[in-house]
Amino acid sequence: MNKKLVLSGFGNVGREFVKLIYEKKEDIEKEYGINLILCGVIGREGCIFEDKGLDLSLLLKCDKGSKGILQYGKINNDSFYDYPVFEGDILIECSNSDIYNGGAALNYIFNFIKRGIDVVAVSKGALVTNFTNIVQLAKENNVRLKYSGATAAALPTIDIGYYSLAGAKIKSIIGILNGTTNYILTKMEKENVSIDEALEEAIKKGITERENSMDIDGIDSACKLLLLANSFMKIEYKLDQISIEGIRNIGIGDINKAKGENKVIKLLSKAYFNDNEVVLKVLPEAVDRDHPMASIKGTNKGVIFNTDTMGEICVFGGESNPRGAAAAAIKDVINICRE
Ligand SMILES: NC(=O)c1ccc[n+]([C@@H]2O[C@H](COP(=O)([O-])OP(=O)(O)OC[C@H]3O[C@@H](n4cnc5c(N)ncnc54)[C@H](OP(=O)(O)O)[C@@H]3O)[C@@H](O)[C@H]2O)c1
Repeated sequence: MNKKLVLSGFGNVGREFVKLIYEKKEDIEKEYGINLILCGVIGREGCIFEDKGLDLSLLLKCDKGSKGILQYGKINNDSFYDYPVFEGDILIECSNSDIYNGGAALNYIFNFIKRGIDVVAVSKGALVTNFTNIVQLAKENNVRLKYSGATAAALPTIDIGYYSLAGAKIKSIIGILNGTTNYILTKMEKENVSIDEALEEAIKKGITERENSMDIDGIDSACKLLLLANSFMKIEYKLDQISIEGIRNIGIGDINKAKGENKVIKLLSKAYFNDNEVVLKVLPEAVDRDHPMASIKGTNKGVIFNTDTMGEICVFGGESNPRGAAAAAIKDVINICRE
């Protein structure tokens, strides 16, 4: 089966996505019978589109980002359009996350859905600001929508809830949903360094968001929690309904105090019922060393679903980097094709 893909955003994740198709195209065709053809890439200042498929080896020689799209368009003049082309079978949305207005991603997602084209969202902004509208529009247009990349990426969260826990009631979700803050807290604890030193190291490793306050102030965790809770707890919350406290004010004194009590500080994202109301919170908490969350170290993430019929399900691990996010998008593409 041929599947024509269009990518929006050729940054860190978008480029890794192209690399993965380049590397794994034959294996995926052998294993799943799906021939992935990347037909288009949309950038900030234009789009390249070839119905027969773009030349991936040429594209990967071009620079990362919108600049690379312009370079490709200069070499293959006929493939360049100064507007986004809304064609193909699946959109993979990898542009910036505008969590306040939805940004360009929202426009792309709406336009592709309206044309009956399936969507894999890696960016969070459109879903965080317009979750209900997007889900509704996808239903109306008979479009499949997946967003593993926006919900902790390589750590399976949304698939566990959707497939593995189908029929069970999810009573609560507890997660460490941001690898960067977990890396910082782990480094502070192991090496007795300040949050500034640990953050500097995270920036050097290239694992922070463009604005690192998204990580440090717990906003990225809150976005992922919101998408999981809206997906599984029958709510339609907005970001401002989450109580959010990040790790900015955690000092080495707090880390050592927790250590003395045989505890470890983790940035937890929690969704649970209080009477009949769902409460969403992101906060740093000292957890006992024998709590499953305490064993999650470095850039790893984790989630625990508590259910009425299947007990507690814990999933830990998952690469927190652009390649892991791109791999999660490939997984969504394959699962869309298999459904
Ligand atoms: N990095 C990760 O590990 C990770 C993991 C999970 C999810 N995500 C999400 O995935 C998305 C991409 O992350 P990233 O690390 O790849 O970010 P990035 O390197 O900043 O890439 C974003 C790309 O989107 C492009 N862009 C901006 N406005 C655009 C527009 N109007 N139309 C088309 N493209 C546009 C940017 O263009 P320019 O080149 O012109 O700036 C840039 O190339 C983000 O939303 C992020 O939250 C990232």
